[in-house]
Amino acid sequence: MAEYLRRPDDMERITTPELAKAFIDEQIAAVKAQVGDNKVLLALSGGVDSSVVAALLIKAIGKNLVCVHVNHGLLRKGEPEQVIKVFKDEMDANLIYVDAVDRFLDKLAGVSDPETKRKIIGGEFIDVFAEEARKLEGIKFLAQGTIWPDILESEAGIKAHHNAGGLPEDLDFDLVEPVRILFKDEVRVVGKELGLPDNMVYRQPFPGPGLGVRCPGAITRDRLEAVRESDAILREEFAKAGLEGKVWQYFTVVPDFKSTGVTDGKRTFNWPCIIRAINTTDVMEVSVEHLPAELIDHLVKRITTEVAGINRVLIDYTPKPPATVEYE
Ligand code: XMP
Repeated sequence: MAEYLRRPDDMERITTPELAKAFIDEQIAAVKAQVGDNKVLLALSGGVDSSVVAALLIKAIGKNLVCVHVNHGLLRKGEPEQVIKVFKDEMDANLIYVDAVDRFLDKLAGVSDPETKRKIIGGEFIDVFAEEARKLEGIKFLAQGTIWPDILESEAGIKAHHNAGGLPEDLDFDLVEPVRILFKDEVRVVGKELGLPDNMVYRQPFPGPGLGVRCPGAITRDRLEAVRESDAILREEFAKAGLEGKVWQYFTVVPDFKSTGVTDGKRTFNWPCIIRAINTTDVMEVSVEHLPAELIDHLVKRITTEVAGINRVLIDYTPKPPATVEYE
């Protein structure tokens, strides 16, 4: 049924709490009518779209929504904890937390080719999710955070709409896609109305392969930890400087080479940490954010003193093109 639902040409853009509330009420009724007393499964990453779908479905069907949060070890600092806090502790969701960190990192060990890394991460994710789905009984529906641009882009042949794709054939679910006709800004307004925290609703884009593409080459646990810790410091300092929500995307990368440094009179041989902060409207063309000198000085100090294995901080001032946003 959801497959055929299209955004009406004259649909008013959802920009206010009132419009969001009307949409939520409408979708709650639609979901109840679609799924009845059946159980619905959802892969809850903690990103904006899946979080909004989760919050909406919890309102509609409560514990009949089964959320699966897979920690693949490539999430940002604090993300799995926040998913558990918001959905399990505060919204009382039926949430299954899967710690698959070792499984992913063992598979990725020694793999340096970017496309192979992406394939392993995507394939392993489907395997883990399918295993969880098979353990559950009586699941008829799969909820997804498909949004209207996903549909438009797949129809235009720009990108395959991959949400449902990839699950093995025996897992033949009907789809529940309550935010399917919304644009991203509308999903955020709806999420806010559903009571999700601002740092979830206004979150910057984060790639599916996560920190894996910011740890170029073969991922090692120590270098991955340096990416995660430096990213956490960067986010914290951007928030303090009032840049959160103003700069479109910002993150750190720790490349796989070392350089000489000195700490407390002793020679070090450690990695550099690269800071990338960019702005864009369409992601096809990207410009760099020029950071205030004081903030840069402060970031250099914190990252080199607090993050193990880093002795140098570099800033990437390259627009797209010629560089892409991510390093892999
Ligand atoms: P690039 O590196 O292609 O990134 O210039 C453009 C935007 O897309 C994000 N990105 C991804 N998002 N899965 C995603 O969901 C991915 O595999 C992926 N790769 C890149 C990137 O963070 C940037 O916002």
